Amino acid sequence: MNIKRNTGVILALDLNEEKIALNLVRGIWEDLDAIKVGLPLVLNCGLDIVKKLKSIVDIPIIADFKIMDYSLIAVKTVETAIDAGYDAVVVCGACGPTVISRCVKAANDKKVFVFVEFTHRDGLLDTNIANRSARLAKELGTYGIFAPGTKPERIKELRNIVGDLIIACCGIGAQGPKPGSGIKAGADFEIIGRAIYEADNSKSTITQIVEEIGINK
Ligand code: XMP
Repeated sequence: MNIKRNTGVILALDLNEEKIALNLVRGIWEDLDAIKVGLPLVLNCGLDIVKKLKSIVDIPIIADFKIMDYSLIAVKTVETAIDAGYDAVVVCGACGPTVISRCVKAANDKKVFVFVEFTHRDGLLDTNIANRSARLAKELGTYGIFAPGTKPERIKELRNIVGDLIIACCGIGAQGPKPGSGIKAGADFEIIGRAIYEADNSKSTITQIVEEIGINK
C-alpha cells in the first residue's frame, strides 16, 4: 500500500495505553496519511495492535522498530512485522547494503524506509554516514527515507540524493519546527507525535496542523 498524500501528516503514535491510542486514532485518522507505530506502543500493547488499528483506519501502518542488526535478525524482524499486518518497516541505513537489500526482499510488496540521520544535533550518525545511507536507500529499491525535520538544509541535500523516493521527516512540532516546514524543505510527509497526542484537543490541533501544512492550498 503506497502512502497517499492527502494532508502530509504521519502520526507518531508513541503512547503506552491501547485504549487511549485507539480513541485518539478514531477521532483524527481521516486527517492522517499514515500512522507510525513504535516500540512504546508495541512493547506495551503487543505487535497485534496493528490489527486493532486496521479495524478503525484505512491508511498504512508503519512499524518503526529502527531495525539495526545483522541480516538474519533484521530479516526475521521484517518478516514478523509484515506477517502481523504492518505495511512498512524502518531499517537503519548504518546496517549497510547487505542488510538493507535483504530487508527489501523480505518485505516483498511492503515498504522499507531507511532511517538515515537523527533529529537531535548530537546524534552520532554524521552527514557522511547519512548521505551514504540515503544513496543505499535509492540504489537498493527502498520506498523512502526518514530524514531530520529539525534540519531543513539536510532535507534539501538528502532530496538531491534520493530523487523521487519518499522522504518522511521527523521532529516537526514538539521538537521546534513548524508544521509545513519539512515539506517546504523538500519532504513528502511530516511525522508528528507529541504535538498531536499531547494536545488538549487533538482534533482541533490536527485540523490546525493540516491547515498550516496546506497541501491542497
Ligand atoms: P515527536 O513527539 O517529537 O515524535 O513529534 C517524533 C517521532 O519521530 C521519531 N523521531 C525520530 N525518528 N530520527 C527518526 O527517524 C530521529 O532522529 C527521530 N527523532 C524522533 C520518534 O521515533 C517519534 O516517533
